Amino acid sequence: MPLNWTETTDSMDWEELSTLYRIAPLGEKPAERLKIAFANSMYKCFAYDNGELVAAGRCLADGIDCAYLCDIAVHPNYQGRGLGKVVVNKLLGFAVGHKKIILYAAAGKEPFYKKFGFKRMTTAMAIFQDEQRAIESGVLEKE
Ligand SMILES: CC(C)(COP(=O)(O)OP(=O)(O)OC[C@H]1O[C@@H](n2cnc3c(N)ncnc32)[C@H](O)[C@@H]1OP(=O)(O)O)[C@@H](O)C(=O)NCCC(=O)NCCS
Repeated sequence: MPLNWTETTDSMDWEELSTLYRIAPLGEKPAERLKIAFANSMYKCFAYDNGELVAAGRCLADGIDCAYLCDIAVHPNYQGRGLGKVVVNKLLGFAVGHKKIILYAAAGKEPFYKKFGFKRMTTAMAIFQDEQRAIESGVLEKE
């Protein structure tokens, strides 16, 4: 049976989305926080297999200048089958026309994003609420 792709959260089970991120793994993302984050994201993308959520991603965008891809994850049982590629391509398609589309990869996932044309930024900077964790996970430089 083909996967069912959707761009809406109308019938989202937020606990199921939280579980997807936990097992992908992409970290602990509580359901109530995901609900806010996705509600405030201009573009979303989800894949279901027989009613089960198997891939997700979102993009924060201002509609003209800057778009930020994040929270991209595929269920472990479905990884390596091209789903991540579809999620990113769908989000890139929605964000087309923005002057810049940015993201930061989980450490080690840079080669996955390079395939879409993402290139390293030389001046990217960030303020993380949990700076120590960001350093430990390899996404922030220790000064
Ligand atoms: C990263 C992730 C989204 C990739 O999704 P996926 O469905 O497994 O990837 P795909 O099968 O679509 O792979 C697409 C291409 O990227 C390559 N690729 C996938 N993961 C890769 C990795 N970690 N490093 C290098 N290349 C990778 C594949 O070989 C494939 O190449 P091809 O098009 O030349 O055949 C998925 O592994 C995942 O959810 N990981 C855990 C959560 C995570 O780290 N998310 C990213 C946050 S930044």
